[in-house]
Amino acid sequence: MTEVVPDHKWRRPSTDASRKSLERVQNIIGDFDADHTMKYYDYWSEHYEQDLENLDYKVPDFMAESLFSFLSPSNWTDKSFTVLDIGAGTGQMAIALSKIQYAGLIDALDGNSLMLKKAQSKNLYRNLTRHLLTTESPLPHDSNAYNVVVCCCAMVPALIQPECLPDMVRVVKCGGLLYFTTRATDGNNSFRARVDEQLNRMYESGLIRFKSEAVIPQYSWPVEEIGEDGQKHFIAAVAICVEKIKSSD
Ligand SMILES: C[S@@+](CC[C@H](N)C(=O)[O-])C[C@H]1O[C@@H](n2cnc3c(N)ncnc32)[C@H](O)[C@@H]1O
Repeated sequence: MTEVVPDHKWRRPSTDASRKSLERVQNIIGDFDADHTMKYYDYWSEHYEQDLENLDYKVPDFMAESLFSFLSPSNWTDKSFTVLDIGAGTGQMAIALSKIQYAGLIDALDGNSLMLKKAQSKNLYRNLTRHLLTTESPLPHDSNAYNVVVCCCAMVPALIQPECLPDMVRVVKCGGLLYFTTRATDGNNSFRARVDEQLNRMYESGLIRFKSEAVIPQYSWPVEEIGEDGQKHFIAAVAICVEKIKSSD
């Protein structure tokens, strides 16, 4: 079981800009419906990338680097290797992959057109699809289609629901990976239990096996906030990787 960072250990950012950025992150923590969430991203799309910079957001880099270690060098340089980035936002995952010379193809899927427009401007994706993923509206992709499916910081209460995990696994090729994050905080415990329930069900049916689980810093604070312990304090995310070991029908 992953270590959970207690909510009281979160530090407040110390500059006006970073305080405002954290406020925008916190505005979308809650049980909001999809309509509210998408309207919020219409607004946030204009500030999103600056907010990530202010808060020292490094999750896509962590995921890209660990994916590199999970895959073989020949996968990494294979121009026909395929990654689907679910909840792609403004394209941070594609930027992180390209920084470490991933040579294959990346498709993006996101429910918000303004976020996707920013992702498109990076010229790193093959296809970009606007689609709101829910249990009622599954992914518009074939089964067993992608070598890797990633979902970075989009599986949290107001965004993509744990009950969508089986559909996310459906589009992964047999032998491929699903790699996603959720929050590792007290406040996310019941959501995390729903994640585990879905994963355990797929494990028990012989569809997946567990490959890796790691806690990663999600946001860390400006240097002047570093405490007497000399450590940066952060909200944590947990990154979970599973391998698909049986093709979907
Ligand atoms: C916190 S952002 C993460 C973006 C990117 N992966 C990153 O790491 O910067 C979450 C993204 O998920 C998208 N999203 C939220 N709910 C969604 C859903 N049900 N289906 C598809 N995309 C969704 C939002 O529009 C937003 O762009």
